[in-house]
Amino acid sequence: MSDSSKPKVRRIAINTGGGDAPGLNAVIRAATLAALNEGWEVFGIRRGYMGILEGEVDGEEGLFPLTAQAVRGITHLGGTILGTTTRGNPFGLEVRQPDGTWGTVDRSDEIVQRFRECEIDALIAIGGDGSLSIAHALHQKGLPVIGVPKTIDNDLSATDVTFGFQSAVEVATDAIGRLHSTAEAHQRVMVVQLMGRHTGWIALESGLAGGADVILIPEIPYDIAKIADKVRERDLQRRRFSIVVVAEGARPRDGEASYADETGRYGGIADRIAAQLHEATEKETRSMVLGHIQRGGEPIAYDRSLALRFGAAAVRCIREGQLGTMVALQGNYIRAVPLGDAIRDIKRVPADSELVMTARQLGISFGD
Ligand code: F6P
Repeated sequence: MSDSSKPKVRRIAINTGGGDAPGLNAVIRAATLAALNEGWEVFGIRRGYMGILEGEVDGEEGLFPLTAQAVRGITHLGGTILGTTTRGNPFGLEVRQPDGTWGTVDRSDEIVQRFRECEIDALIAIGGDGSLSIAHALHQKGLPVIGVPKTIDNDLSATDVTFGFQSAVEVATDAIGRLHSTAEAHQRVMVVQLMGRHTGWIALESGLAGGADVILIPEIPYDIAKIADKVRERDLQRRRFSIVVVAEGARPRDGEASYADETGRYGGIADRIAAQLHEATEKETRSMVLGHIQRGGEPIAYDRSLALRFGAAAVRCIREGQLGTMVALQGNYIRAVPLGDAIRDIKRVPADSELVMTARQLGISFGD
């Protein structure tokens, strides 16, 4: 692109949306420093889009300058200095109606207008499938956006890896390792539930690395009788304990996934499987839910470095006028892919993938 056709940028903003993931702060730091080096002003938006919409969030400025000082020493910190929300979709914001019930209101036009009023030339939106779909829809309404792929679930199809995923795998692998000693000491079956609504990447990678005996993922529906067979087979081999790793969205071959509530949040699968295995094998079983511990704490080195690369690449995209794109890791290259393509499909574990094949060769059961 010739210099004259490149957009004139003076001011950009950054926000984080959806569930947090280790590495968010590293993206914010890299994008801020790279943008300041371009001579641009950088603003952080608090709690997704709430800061720009409301002007103030929890008594603090909703839109505030990100200076070199503001992003100093945050690469290694978990969470996000901007705050985030899973209930901030501007196309359907929850509001209390006059009759006391809850309804939704579309404030997306207001958001685009607010960005114009604040003279922000581009937004770096850091998020998972939900937040990036919102960013894409805002882009279509005229807001210049660059997406950065975040989620511990690693389920975005356009990028080989999302930042946060490897850190979550480390935590989960450590937990599975710790369960081994107590499972063996008591000759128990331990069922551990990991995150992964639609996909089993965390369960598969950590189950493999942590030495699970059974891995259950949404992509491969299970049969409880097959899991019980595996536990009995191990008993016969004098391995009188078993570790079952289950992604929260896993489901039986002939039934539904387990939902925590009517909002569609998953929960309860580990309890369910532990009870069924106790009944089928008469062994002592225990269940545990690792939950948000998988999203917490410091990002590992891999995620810090990937997040820093994504943040810097997002600024290059703005500089080069590649708006409406998402930065993605493909092989060892960071590329810009159209946001519309990036959100089209969820990246599921292919049932015949090399990872699944490896696990099967090691004798790990998928309950199928
Ligand atoms: O999308 C990431 C994720 O970690 C899912 O695996 C999980 O179902 C969800 O977030 C939980 O989110 P919340 O913080 O709303 O409970």
